[in-house]
Amino acid sequence: MTAKIYVAAPGRINLIGEHTDYNGGLVFPAAIDKCVYFELSLNGLDKHRFQAIDLDEKIEVFVANKYERGAMSWANYLLGVLQAFSNRGHQVPGVDLRISSAIPIGAGLSSSAALCSGFAFGLQELLGLSLDRWTLAEMAQESEHNFAGVQCGIMDQFASLFGKKDRALVLDCSSREFRERPIELDQYQLILCDSQVKHDLADSAYNERREECAKGLEQFQVSHPNTKSISDIDWDDLILEVAFMDDLYFRRLSYVVQENERVTATEAALEAGNLQKVGKLLYQSHEGLEQLYQVSCPELDFLVDQTYQLPQVLGARMMGGGFGGCTLNLVKRSFIPEFRDRLSYAYRERFGKDCRFIEVEIGDGVRMIEKAGLPADTFLDV
Ligand code: GLA
Repeated sequence: MTAKIYVAAPGRINLIGEHTDYNGGLVFPAAIDKCVYFELSLNGLDKHRFQAIDLDEKIEVFVANKYERGAMSWANYLLGVLQAFSNRGHQVPGVDLRISSAIPIGAGLSSSAALCSGFAFGLQELLGLSLDRWTLAEMAQESEHNFAGVQCGIMDQFASLFGKKDRALVLDCSSREFRERPIELDQYQLILCDSQVKHDLADSAYNERREECAKGLEQFQVSHPNTKSISDIDWDDLILEVAFMDDLYFRRLSYVVQENERVTATEAALEAGNLQKVGKLLYQSHEGLEQLYQVSCPELDFLVDQTYQLPQVLGARMMGGGFGGCTLNLVKRSFIPEFRDRLSYAYRERFGKDCRFIEVEIGDGVRMIEKAGLPADTFLDV
């Protein structure tokens, strides 16, 4: 039995740049102050013992070279990470693990990426390996691909592992170069509004979008054989292909090309302190996600639509994979209480259920912490 170590792994928000990551494009995420917390040690046994404190669930699994998915989805993410270690020739001996999450589940804040990234980081600390953070991000992503069946990009794992307090990160997903950008919002604040819905087909629709993009790229490559990814396409070249491509693929590619441009424009607008412009870009992003990429849903559209009539809201859009989860809103700070009241009321009237608001700060990425640094009562000694 080794000494226990503690790890914090944050969720993320994404300012703009949605569904661009797996298309080799630009994203603009930030890690948040809400984390999954891990307590880990090597137990000296031939089995792993995992416990999810909040769910009050436990599982024991024998150490293996090949792990199988089981019935508990939270544990599958962990098994997927063990498999990723095994795939790279690192046999992980028996681990005792307790986890507790302060990231709202199902809100699109990437609690699963935090779970995988934090576990991968914790294991490499326990084993004394020196894997770099990109490798850990890839291992965490591999778990989502193979053990959760979601062919996600790298944005969420990147944000969780590389996040910096008070900074958002502009990442080019094809070169993996990134820049830190301070987020100075003056009298404004970002606030999330969780629709509290997750539509059943969200994961399969996500994978479907990925395939549509791949097929759309193939069609574009007929006339542009040297184009490697959708993010290399210029709008002027794409528009000339409108008659030669399937309409559906044309729309998907149009969205990606435009969204990449919006990330660059958002970075410039933030640098110039032009928050009105940032807000407009958020609205345009939503429109593209709704109409061209078709990953929104009535609840998210409604929440965004409601804000158009509020001059204190500069912009809003759905955030993350879509089909549920949150909207991201840029709202005048002094107006936040009224903003919450108005949206809550309207949402309840329209859908007969509540939305919930989540205020987040931009925080640091995955890190070791002292036991004393855990939120109170996270791991009560048993
Ligand atoms: C999910 C995925 C990410 C990214 C976003 C959409 O969060 O995990 O890789 O594709 O959706 O931007």
